[in-house]
Amino acid sequence: MKVGIIGAGSIGLLFAAYLSRKFAVTIYTRSEQQALQINQAGILLKNDYGINKEMVHACQAEMWRGSEDITIVAVKQYQLNPIITVIKQLPVKPINLLFLQNGMGHLNELSSIQGHNVYVGSVEHGALRETAYLVSHNGAGVTNVAVYQGNAGPLREFVSAAADDFPFKYHVDYYEMLVKKLIVNSVINPLTAILAVKNGDLIHNHYYYAAAKSLFSEVAAILKLKNEAEYFRQVTDICLATAENHSSMLKDLQANRRTEIDAIVGYLLTEARQHQIKAPIIENLYNLIKGKEAGEGGMA
Ligand code: PAF
Repeated sequence: MKVGIIGAGSIGLLFAAYLSRKFAVTIYTRSEQQALQINQAGILLKNDYGINKEMVHACQAEMWRGSEDITIVAVKQYQLNPIITVIKQLPVKPINLLFLQNGMGHLNELSSIQGHNVYVGSVEHGALRETAYLVSHNGAGVTNVAVYQGNAGPLREFVSAAADDFPFKYHVDYYEMLVKKLIVNSVINPLTAILAVKNGDLIHNHYYYAAAKSLFSEVAAILKLKNEAEYFRQVTDICLATAENHSSMLKDLQANRRTEIDAIVGYLLTEARQHQIKAPIIENLYNLIKGKEAGEGGMA
């Protein structure tokens, strides 16, 4: 089976390294230089067992034509637009596309893709891109996948062919799968990013815990959650399991990168407006994160 991966950030590199042990993988990078480096040096995968070199074929993203059996799109939600434009220009022969973006802000865009099999995934691995071709796997997990539109057959085939050391879990209900991750990210990420604290502090500091609870109540109202206590327990469990970690949103702010606030919190605000639900805490957090992204003067 041939696998294409668009995007060579932490998730793209991680997937390319592990999947290349089982499949013929081509990774599509933004820069020509990164493709050259990967073709020469391979991808270095750092995990509990040390550093392993995985030889992976790399090309620049412009070369992607959807010729692999499945293409994994591993870019941020705000980088999707040009890729979707290319997909829409491909000949109509159905191709299989797995989108791994955080949040749910991308679903509208995915609905506009016609004639292809569109799958979505939520990644539970922790990964950090240390150089253009060195990725650290610092939290082993699973990749949850589901059909968004089209035929499930190719996705099921891919999931059962994947190796046990890098597992995929097939879900029947894409909404339920993505919403669980959205809830976790919408509580942990903006709070830890604004407070500049580790995930565990949201539980250990009782003022922050109270803030997390109030934020969760707004999220639960917007998403019309039935079993609120269970969803909140999931948030607190993840805070404890990742107590020593900085959330991805905090890391993005610290590195002066754009955050995924629109895909996560922006999606909730759009839902709230559509259903005329008031969400002052969420709105404030959204503005605070956008303000931080804009930096001094707030002009960005
Ligand atoms: O985005 C993140 O950082 C992670 O998804 C999570 C679960 C919040 C843990 O840090």
